[in-house]
Amino acid sequence: MLILNKTAGVFSKPSKRNMYEFLRSFNFHPGKLFLHKLVLGIETSCDDTAAAVVDETGNVLGEAIHSQTEVHLKTGGIIPSVAQQLHRENIQRIVQEALSASKVSPSELSAIATTIKPGLALSLGVGLSFSLQLVDQLKKPFIPIHHMEAHALTIRLTNKVEFPFLVLLISGGHCLLALVRGVSDFLLLGKSLDIAPGDMLDKVARRLSLIKHPECSTMSGGKAIEHLAKQGNKLHFDFKPPMQHAKNCDFSFSGLHHIIDKMIMQKEKEEGIEKGQILSSAADIAAAVQHTVACHIAKRTHRAILFCKQRDLLCQSNAVLVVSGGVASNLHIRKALEIVTDATQCTLLCPPPRLCTDNGVMIAWNGVERLRAGLGILHSTEGIRYEPKCPLGADISKEVGEAAIKVPRLKMNI
Ligand code: KG4
Ligand code: ZN
Repeated sequence: MLILNKTAGVFSKPSKRNMYEFLRSFNFHPGKLFLHKLVLGIETSCDDTAAAVVDETGNVLGEAIHSQTEVHLKTGGIIPSVAQQLHRENIQRIVQEALSASKVSPSELSAIATTIKPGLALSLGVGLSFSLQLVDQLKKPFIPIHHMEAHALTIRLTNKVEFPFLVLLISGGHCLLALVRGVSDFLLLGKSLDIAPGDMLDKVARRLSLIKHPECSTMSGGKAIEHLAKQGNKLHFDFKPPMQHAKNCDFSFSGLHHIIDKMIMQKEKEEGIEKGQILSSAADIAAAVQHTVACHIAKRTHRAILFCKQRDLLCQSNAVLVVSGGVASNLHIRKALEIVTDATQCTLLCPPPRLCTDNGVMIAWNGVERLRAGLGILHSTEGIRYEPKCPLGADISKEVGEAAIKVPRLKMNI
């Protein structure tokens, strides 16, 4: 408990009364009967404070989110203590909004599910501290959630997808390929050895000062790159996809980032402009970066599909590839992945954009999945801790590398 009190002080001592008053504010629709089990999901692992109420059939009864993106855009990245403070300021309101929208009173909940791993320590602490007090007051079961598992399972809320399926998670903080065999049965096939693709795109966008571009000033880095890339020619720059000789499913974006950085510096010299001004070749750079990232991601995913089929871990025809995370909304990257799924007789599925990025629905839904499977439902929360670092499932990436599968070249005519 020490960690929690230290990191989420706002909800320590005086909060019992706050929580009591918070719970007393729910006195609507007495006597309404819910036929299905209801789970409240709470997410604070990074820079979104989110909550949702979902029933066991997958109906989203209410949801609310507070995004910190605008604040972090101004500071050029997430400052953990700022994120923590913003979570503290918003969590009660967001949970209240989700519950009010759902017309469910806290006493009607079957369980409370909260992200406890992995993520920013200071952010996770706020959500966990708040949830534990709620659980304590309401005497409800608690379901700790792994953030990545929740991303991976979201597709089962929107589509009828059976286990096993392959999942590619690509965002600002995540980059992994995993085989999903069950609600809490994952095989990790590969991950980024350094930064995530969204992080790299954000860094390149910042270096190109796209925030000063009139069409991109309110966009995230990745979205700004996608937007500008449409006006550019990807063939004007020839960046090689990383790790071409490593026959595994791992990713890397740091090396490419440094090469692009150097290229930008050189272009600034050539164009005679200062750092901070927008290059005339910015759109061409954006197009080339986006294409290189797409090719890298597509190649590793292609190998993961071939590996799973070779080992009979996935259906030979009609296997499903799920792509999620903020970067999954990039249409160029999706097209590259479509070329791969067409070539391997797989079906490509993406949750809708609002469920691709961090949200409360995916946490509540993971709670529903666990409730239905009877997995990881806690009736005592003693000793529960958040875990900033926590791998997803069993790591078989070494075995994947040892298989050294050669991936046939596909024409990426996008
Ligand atoms: O999933 P998300 O909202 O948050 C986490 O990182 O967990 O993803 C945000 C990331 C950012 O790095 C952002 O630049 C990137 O997703 N992103 C995109 C696009 N929209 C958001 N990257 C490429 N193309 C996009 N259209
Ligand atoms: Zn996430």
